[in-house]
Amino acid sequence: MTVQVESNSCRILIIDDEMAIRRTLSLVLKKAGYEIREAENLSEATRMLDQERPDLAMCDLRIGEDCGIDLIRLIEQRYPDTESILMTAFGSIESTVEAMQAGAFDYITKPFSNNELLLRVKKALERKEMKQEIITLRQHVAMSYGFDNIVGISKAIDHVKETAKRVSPTDITVLITGASGTGKELFARAIHHHSHRRNGPLVAIDCSAIPDSLLESELFGHLKGSFTSASQNKRGLLEEADGGTIFLDEVSNMSTAVQVKLLRFLQDSEIRPVGSSISKRVDVRIVAATNRDLATMVSQNEFREDLYYRLNVIPLNLPTLNERAEDVEMLTDYFLRRIAGEIKKDSLSITRAAVDLLLGHTWPGNVRELENTLKRGAALCADNHLDVNDIIFVAAESGRTAPKAAPSRTSLCLKGNLLDSNQKSLIVTALNDNDWNYTRTASELGIGRTTLWRKIRKYDLKRELVEK
Ligand SMILES: Nc1ncnc2c1ncn2[C@@H]1O[C@H](COP(=O)(O)OP(=O)(O)OP(=O)(O)O)[C@@H](O)[C@H]1O
Ligand SMILES: [Mg+2]
Repeated sequence: MTVQVESNSCRILIIDDEMAIRRTLSLVLKKAGYEIREAENLSEATRMLDQERPDLAMCDLRIGEDCGIDLIRLIEQRYPDTESILMTAFGSIESTVEAMQAGAFDYITKPFSNNELLLRVKKALERKEMKQEIITLRQHVAMSYGFDNIVGISKAIDHVKETAKRVSPTDITVLITGASGTGKELFARAIHHHSHRRNGPLVAIDCSAIPDSLLESELFGHLKGSFTSASQNKRGLLEEADGGTIFLDEVSNMSTAVQVKLLRFLQDSEIRPVGSSISKRVDVRIVAATNRDLATMVSQNEFREDLYYRLNVIPLNLPTLNERAEDVEMLTDYFLRRIAGEIKKDSLSITRAAVDLLLGHTWPGNVRELENTLKRGAALCADNHLDVNDIIFVAAESGRTAPKAAPSRTSLCLKGNLLDSNQKSLIVTALNDNDWNYTRTASELGIGRTTLWRKIRKYDLKRELVEK
């Protein structure tokens, strides 16, 4: 078997006090396309690590008087971007174990064949690449859920953002309240991504979407046989969120029984799966949200007072869009740029008259309604320029749970002069956003179901082909 090297731009540092070994390794690896650096002692090795930032260090167990494992430990602590492999003589199992504990990715026992060497090197470099990809992805996610993406210049939103930024790095429980579409979920995600838990999981659960009878087992898990449909053991979401954050959305929808269990969890950080007598400790930060007035629910005995106080440690009350009308223009700008990106347009613009129309609206569906209105406008408009005729308010958007209104007459016909590619991308985005539910998609686009169906046929859209 011959090992193929796909990437030849990787830099490898060989650290060995024996010149003959450095040269042999160097020859084989150079021939395979790698860039090689050599060091014969620890001080030379650290200088090279500083200056050359190698992708991989191949380190002998004995480097003159020095120990290769110490170097591996140093690499692990100070140069996390460099992977390391320990080279040992046959039989030194203890050193191998120690090297792996110190952070070596792998070890290779002398004497080794060229192919074995190349295979180990390739694996180590693949792992480095994967680590890099994960870091990039995390940065990307943190950026898209950053506070910078919570748009607004009003005092009202600024104040909430400041409080949220201050509590993010702590483990304090946060209760986000606000009407539908005001950005509760957006804030919950930003809080997680700005906490020290950002590399841990963020588990979101919509308590209103899960039947009462199942919510307890969803949150706390269950043992096989603990109820009729429990055919196997199941980990609860609180356990899944260990080391991270759980976002309890629509927390007002919990039955009293689940409220009691959640309260206990908030007091002792322990969970006990349904049907089990053993408790487990988990380390989870709680961010809860509701669009109901929990204080009123408490006074009407619909929500436990003790749980309310436990959740409401830091309240974040999100203003409605109507209360911060000065943000409408800025949000419009932001959404038009985002929508243009989604439908791959250079830019989308809007007339002054259309902006005035937006400013005159009361936004019962808040930011979500504005976003949807602009998405619809982008689908309807000519020449990527939204005018008053392209702004259609749909009553159904005034609340997530409100019944969908019949689409208005104007919105039934998508304008003929709309560029097809523009329209197609918007429809695909809306379908994906709504999990290919035609009724919800049609409602979001402000068109009838039949119209949507015709468009899907026209563009030959198929879920498996166009999904991300
Ligand atoms: N300040 C803001 N800046 C940018 N986008 C926002 C802002 N507020 C909300 N949005 C966007 O509006 C939409 C609705 O926000 P989100 O889902 O967070 O609201 P919500 O309060 O959780 O609503 P619901 O109660 O209906 O669940 C999302 O697409 C979100 O990205
Ligand atoms: Mg929400």
